[in-house]
Amino acid sequence: MPMAGRAGLLYFCLAFPLMGAQQQTRQDRGEEAERAALLSRWQYERSQKQAGAAQDLSRTSWNFLACQLWQGGCEEEEEARAQREEEEEGGRGILLQQEWKLPILTELVSTWYCSFGRCCTTGDCRVTNNITGLELDLNKRLHGQHLAKEIVLKAVQGFLETPQPEKALTLSFHGWSGTGKNFVARLMAEHLYRDGVKSDCVKIFISVFHFPDPKYMDLYKVQLANQISETVQFCEQSLFIFDEAEKLHSDLLNALKPYVDHYGNTDKIDYRRSIFLFLSNGGGNIINKVALDFWQAGQAREEITMEYLEQYLRKDLLDAPDAHNCLLQENLIDFLVPFLPLEYHHVKLCARDAFLARGLQFTEEVLDKVARTMVFVPKEEKLFSAQGCKSVSQRINDFLL
Ligand SMILES: *[C@@H]1O[C@H](CO)[C@@H](O)[C@H](O)[C@H]1NC(C)=O
Repeated sequence: MPMAGRAGLLYFCLAFPLMGAQQQTRQDRGEEAERAALLSRWQYERSQKQAGAAQDLSRTSWNFLACQLWQGGCEEEEEARAQREEEEEGGRGILLQQEWKLPILTELVSTWYCSFGRCCTTGDCRVTNNITGLELDLNKRLHGQHLAKEIVLKAVQGFLETPQPEKALTLSFHGWSGTGKNFVARLMAEHLYRDGVKSDCVKIFISVFHFPDPKYMDLYKVQLANQISETVQFCEQSLFIFDEAEKLHSDLLNALKPYVDHYGNTDKIDYRRSIFLFLSNGGGNIINKVALDFWQAGQAREEITMEYLEQYLRKDLLDAPDAHNCLLQENLIDFLVPFLPLEYHHVKLCARDAFLARGLQFTEEVLDKVARTMVFVPKEEKLFSAQGCKSVSQRINDFLL
């Protein structure tokens, strides 16, 4: 919604309580919202002070990093933002007698207005929760992952349909790189949120970039907690994605526990509508071994069931030294999601998608050429792509017709 529209809403909300006695409850809600808004502002400022020592790792640069690593071209986003800000300029005069920062105020107004449930069918215009779209896309664009597809859909749909979840939803994705973990996380962001991974409701943390130095773990802990509570405050159904979760320090995992546990949090914010995704290479080898065993036994990979695979995966993860598994140990992970290693024909499907996405011509022969540039393992069988479908979309550049 353009800022001018929001300004209208704010005016509407402010004027509303004056409209007579029968509006009493609305007035109460209005005052409550106002108090909440002031409290939020206070909390925001306080958290800003706490994070003051880490100004160089500001929110902007965090987002920038995530944006760079997750989708490349961020200039586009910058342009769109510049344009949006220009459009929003018009509404500024009415709203800003105070010196509040515009984006914060914008959020407050939309959260406030939407808390009356009149905003969109979901109650919050930023949240779309398009399960049909997610299912369609998973069927069409995720290759060779029958288990991940089924588990993710079931878990997300069940969670979103629960009126009052007992805890935040936690999914732990496991598998070699290039098998689709990031892709599925991105699809979730795109179908649950209007603005996808760029949504205010979606935060991406990449271990080696956001928390690189063990020396600053105390600082990262505070920053992470602030980011989570700030995000959930402005967007009840938030999505947090932890990429390279196997590298998360145990201190950070401990800091995360209250947010993903049943009733561990102590502040007033309800974290139980949030979704946490952990993306990890851990367990990849055991998943691959099971897939190879099936192949050697002449069974189709689609016959691998979760009951069968999970016992091995769980044991492998619990035996591994990664700190990440402490969440699993404490039963704070709701679903393990295995990503199977990809075979030659899956890589070809990825190549086909890459051509289609760019509207380019291709032939079966070209798809074969692209697939043959990948390394396949193990040495004898040459069955699985060592890099999955990673960088396939870049590789097609060499084979443009
Ligand atoms: C959900 O996604 C599908 C596929 O992307 C789209 O066709 C449909 O219009 C979306 N539905 C809503 C309610 O946005």
